[in-house]
Amino acid sequence: MSAHFEIASPLPGATFGAILRLGRSIADSLPYGLPQALAEAGGLLLIPGLHEIAGKPELLVRLSRLFGPEIEDYRTLLTGRNMVHSTVPEIFMVTNMVSGARPPPRRPEPPLAPDGRFPVQYPQRKGWHTDQSYRRPPPDISLFFAANPVARERGQTIFANGTLAYEALPDELKARVEGLEGLHAQPGTGRSREAAVAGTTPRAFAAHERSQRQPVVRTHPVTGKRALYLCESGQMDWFDGPFVGLQPGPQGDGAKLLDALMTHYTRPEFVYVHEWTEGDVLVWDNRCLVHTATWYDADKEQRMMWRTTVRGNPGANYAGEAKSWIAKEQGATV
Ligand SMILES: [Fe+2]
Repeated sequence: MSAHFEIASPLPGATFGAILRLGRSIADSLPYGLPQALAEAGGLLLIPGLHEIAGKPELLVRLSRLFGPEIEDYRTLLTGRNMVHSTVPEIFMVTNMVSGARPPPRRPEPPLAPDGRFPVQYPQRKGWHTDQSYRRPPPDISLFFAANPVARERGQTIFANGTLAYEALPDELKARVEGLEGLHAQPGTGRSREAAVAGTTPRAFAAHERSQRQPVVRTHPVTGKRALYLCESGQMDWFDGPFVGLQPGPQGDGAKLLDALMTHYTRPEFVYVHEWTEGDVLVWDNRCLVHTATWYDADKEQRMMWRTTVRGNPGANYAGEAKSWIAKEQGATV
């Protein structure tokens, strides 16, 4: 029996990931075996040529359902309504084509790595995160469809593999992260490193948007492998964190540890750089990878990417938890 796809791994220039080519339209039949392929590829699958999604966005939701029990409805999450697709609310638009959109990331400074290559490693490359880690339980998997990518060498998405990074961690750092929790902040709540360095006073949280603790080392519920799970600048809490129980703030012991961990996590041998082609779908596992975006010229270029998130299998650490981002489940008054 055919699984209706061909697979090749790893992804070009990387030590993980796979390209999965489907043999037929996903409107006719959905392939099976994709979750297993994702796990075997270390949490990153490229499925090229899915142009049919552009005219039928609900196909992205159907594809997403293969990867888990719940596709998130962005009307119920913490993101702005202006970024939610008008007819398919499970789609979050990552774009500069709607008013109020966030600008693209800044270019690294200096623009090239010390060896003259494209820079990927923190802290020269910034913005590393795992999607929506400021919610508990956090989402498991993201799907990202290139409806209208910008030209190559801009607007890339870069991934780092937290499983490989954890396995290669020096023993001293492995011991320090054992049992440690990070404090993850929602962008917009005033908890960023930039805000802490500037000495601003963060505003009070609404109950459903409080920074959330997450284990720094997560055990993957499907593969059983351990992976680093943390973010940096804008998605950690730099006032009470970045780590629970360590000296807080942007100059504290916690900051020094985070910088060391992120520098290790994003070493080039753990990284894949994706150049987008229209019709690509990338599927990534937020439980064991981090990613970041790169600059493009938002004044001259238009970019439209569609994202769904799949939740429901975060692992035993989150068993039985209410959703931290639902105000009524937290007794919030907002
Ligand atoms: Fe993201």
